[in-house]
Amino acid sequence: MTAIRDVLIWDSERERAERGDIEIGSDGRITAVLPPKGAKGEILFDGRGETAAIPGLVNAHTHVSMTLLRGIAEELPLMEWLQTKIFPAEDRLLPQHIRSGAELAMLEMISGGTTCFADMYYFMREVASATLASGMRAALCRGITGDDARKLNENLSLAEDFGGREGRIIVQLGPHAPYTVPRDFLARIAGIAKDRGLGVHFHWLETEGELKTFRDEYKISPSEYLAQAGLLDAPKLLLAHSVWHPSDELGRVNRSNVTLVHNPKSNLKLGSGYAPVREMLDLGMNVALGTDGAASNNRLDMWDEMRAAALMHKGYHKDPTLVSARDVLKMATLAGAAGMGFEGVGLIKAGWHADIALVDISGPRYVGCDDRNLPEFLVYSGSSRDVRATIVDGKPLYKDGCFLTMDSQEIVAKAREHRRDITK
Ligand code: NI
Repeated sequence: MTAIRDVLIWDSERERAERGDIEIGSDGRITAVLPPKGAKGEILFDGRGETAAIPGLVNAHTHVSMTLLRGIAEELPLMEWLQTKIFPAEDRLLPQHIRSGAELAMLEMISGGTTCFADMYYFMREVASATLASGMRAALCRGITGDDARKLNENLSLAEDFGGREGRIIVQLGPHAPYTVPRDFLARIAGIAKDRGLGVHFHWLETEGELKTFRDEYKISPSEYLAQAGLLDAPKLLLAHSVWHPSDELGRVNRSNVTLVHNPKSNLKLGSGYAPVREMLDLGMNVALGTDGAASNNRLDMWDEMRAAALMHKGYHKDPTLVSARDVLKMATLAGAAGMGFEGVGLIKAGWHADIALVDISGPRYVGCDDRNLPEFLVYSGSSRDVRATIVDGKPLYKDGCFLTMDSQEIVAKAREHRRDITK
């Protein structure tokens, strides 16, 4: 038994934060939330009433190994960015680069309180084994382009070898996007997902040009396309971006197995537009939050993402009541974990996994922060720099600037070397 002492606890089921202790069992699950100094067991962390405890942040759409490609293509439109810069650089990536980029990303995520992520890329065995070693939780898939049975088989063997490992890895199928995977192959992938109980992670209507293709070439509505391909019948479907999903068609994809992943900063940086998040939330859809890869953001910082999500819709719609701090905190925690298929992840309550970010609220930006306004302080004044500890399944991965499962100096040095390899 271990304990996190005297913290201000908030999750998306709470109206007000609660000052207390969190008691964690040897299985990594929370056994009780108690009044301050009520928890028994070895003290993992003493918050002294100056620390907030929130569920670990969940990055629901990223490509972690792209940290090695950070900055190689700036200020270009998506298709040009992909075809002239990203795809040629990706051709040079070897398994050791994928591992190195993934580890670099994990340092960044862990130090900012992120405990869980959904990733689509290739050489994913490297990402899976790095995830297991780091102590993080992830939903992983092999990005599938074309009608390439080899890629699909790699994705399926990833599922066989890593799915369910240590309760921290879920493997999904990863058809890349409607513009990179032919429709009949997409239908085949969707059929396999349904048969084998695997989720699907898919890039969806990121740019306006894609919507135009549906209208002018496919002559089918986007929602009908998803339904006909069988994707809506996948046990879990993560639709990344969904910027151009027509808002009058959202009802058609409003299903409990479907999660829309909002990526505000990548959409802003690539000039893609803004997703109809107001309408999604009004319909009660499950909306998660992701950073996308580091070549299009360029941070894997969920605090930054929360702030962008909470601000941009207010500005576009000229309505400061939209997409509240509480909405985005839910998007960045429970909604992401549930969307990937992790059960018992994303709240701080008995029986749930002890995936927790501890945040220092003693600094100047938090004067006035209390049990009623904590979510607003975190989103509007907070930052990843305030994270003091990151815990997954009751195990601290990061505390007071130190990485407890990873050698950060070695990872950064190796990543520098690999970056030189792939850009020379
Ligand atoms: Ni992406």
